Amino acid sequence: MTAIWALADLHLPFGNPEKSMEIFGPAWANYTQKIEKHWLACVAPEDLVLMPGDLSWAHDLECAKKDLDWIDRLPGTKLLVRGNHDYWWPSPTKLKNALPPSMHFIRNNAFQWMDVSIGGTRLWDCEHFSCGDVIDFKVNPATGAISPPETDKDAMRKIYERELHRLRLSLDELHKDAHLKIVMTHYPPVSHDLQPSPVSAILEEYGVDICVFGHLHNVKKDVSIFGELNGIKYICVAGDYIDFKPVKIAP
Ligand SMILES: [Fe+2]
Repeated sequence: MTAIWALADLHLPFGNPEKSMEIFGPAWANYTQKIEKHWLACVAPEDLVLMPGDLSWAHDLECAKKDLDWIDRLPGTKLLVRGNHDYWWPSPTKLKNALPPSMHFIRNNAFQWMDVSIGGTRLWDCEHFSCGDVIDFKVNPATGAISPPETDKDAMRKIYERELHRLRLSLDELHKDAHLKIVMTHYPPVSHDLQPSPVSAILEEYGVDICVFGHLHNVKKDVSIFGELNGIKYICVAGDYIDFKPVKIAP
């Protein structure tokens, strides 16, 4: 039986060395070495690794190739969805042609892995909840800012609605008889204290078992976040939250 792992928010710097995350403090010290060490310790060549977003800091596909090749050399099949910082992410056709053989992606489709069916989308910020209470906001050494910039509420609503539509398109492709249905999103689909959301309602409608996601950095150490809501397990796999150790999702 092969295992399924998950790890998000690698923010790899090989294609854009100026953007190394090392400036963000001890949690990010030697992070690429940490990723490689932990990955090699747990992932077997026959395993699948879910990577829900913010893979690379590169600004275009050519620079991202360095990061993609680095991931490709690690064992296992890798499955991606886009994060908000994956500026390099091209059109689906270009991406399909550019990805190394061990890597696949989800966009309005589903991925079948033996008897497991996997869907997903990036999602976006929404007005239904915020995870700000559990984040230890720090000064961004690159910008001098502490909190994230103000967002245009109308624009946010529009993007979120479009993402809900994309989520449905993907979930429509899940295999009806799948033994396990997994969804990967970049943004958290529910609040850290598991208040229901438009996304949790959709996941319940489609009989999803597990949802993995990332995006949250500097989560406070003393709080417990996410868990199980109405039979669905919500698992945060943001790199610095899990010390860059892939989390085993199944079996
Ligand atoms: Fe992100």
